[in-house]
Amino acid sequence: MVRHLLTLDGLGRAEIEAMLALAEAAPAPVLAGKGAALYFEKPSARTRNSMELAVHQLGGHPVYLTAGELGIGTRESVEDIARTLACYHGVIAAREFDHKLLVALAAASPVPVVNMLSGSDHPLQALADLLTIRQLCGRIEGVKVAYVGDGDNNVARSLAQGCVALGAELTIASPEGFGLSDAPAGVRQVVDPLQAVRGAEVVYTDVWVSMGQEEESLFRSVKLQDYQVNGALMAEAPGAWFLHCLPARRGEEATAEVIDGPRSAVWRQAENRMHSARGALMWLLAETSSRP
Ligand code: CP
Ligand code: NVA
Repeated sequence: MVRHLLTLDGLGRAEIEAMLALAEAAPAPVLAGKGAALYFEKPSARTRNSMELAVHQLGGHPVYLTAGELGIGTRESVEDIARTLACYHGVIAAREFDHKLLVALAAASPVPVVNMLSGSDHPLQALADLLTIRQLCGRIEGVKVAYVGDGDNNVARSLAQGCVALGAELTIASPEGFGLSDAPAGVRQVVDPLQAVRGAEVVYTDVWVSMGQEEESLFRSVKLQDYQVNGALMAEAPGAWFLHCLPARRGEEATAEVIDGPRSAVWRQAENRMHSARGALMWLLAETSSRP
């Protein structure tokens, strides 16, 4: 049976910790002589570059593919695309608007499929976030994480699933209607950002307008305007680190003072995208090769 990584939902502590351990282990040539299909329906800086480098470090060859080129569902069916890509590639990774397309790819693919961000989930980001938290705080279990802003998005959902699996205490602060709709048990949701950040060791935010939500830009920015992570909010969490998945809109969800300030670890977090991607690929490919 082939293992896929579409979401952190359903993964246990042991599986996530194995990926984090491999992120800090020496790279093994698990993709030697093979390709990795990297399919993007949306733009990317960190995910594309970190995945290309991770694939290279594992002995493989990344191939960047776009929607116009593959024509999934128009030029060819998703099933035929999956079977075709698996003729050349040891792994298929995709960034898609609709999570269901990833599920369909995985159902048809004889090689592992990896979610590089969908409308609902961003598991590779959460792995990098957990790795960064462990490096900054020396542990993950019991770390108090405050996520402030748009709680019902892909980054928050994967972060919540990862925090719960590894025992971090996540509080999400968002306005009514912007909370994480399917939060796992153990995640605290509040409306007041001050309540979330007091006592926090990590303060995290993401953009207010995710890719695909551009038409709601004004509405979302007005609704979320009191959830900016700025110097005053960070002053309520003395000693807390600041994380952001990036890209950031300085002056919206966080101020330049915070993103570029001494407590920001966003560049370490961005670098960790490469290490955690490598760990995830090593884990997936080792799992696959050990199965009949
Ligand atoms: N954090 C993240 O996924 O960045 P990109 O959209 O640039 O890949
Ligand atoms: N929530 C953001 C994350 C970008 C990495 C988006 O989906 O656009």
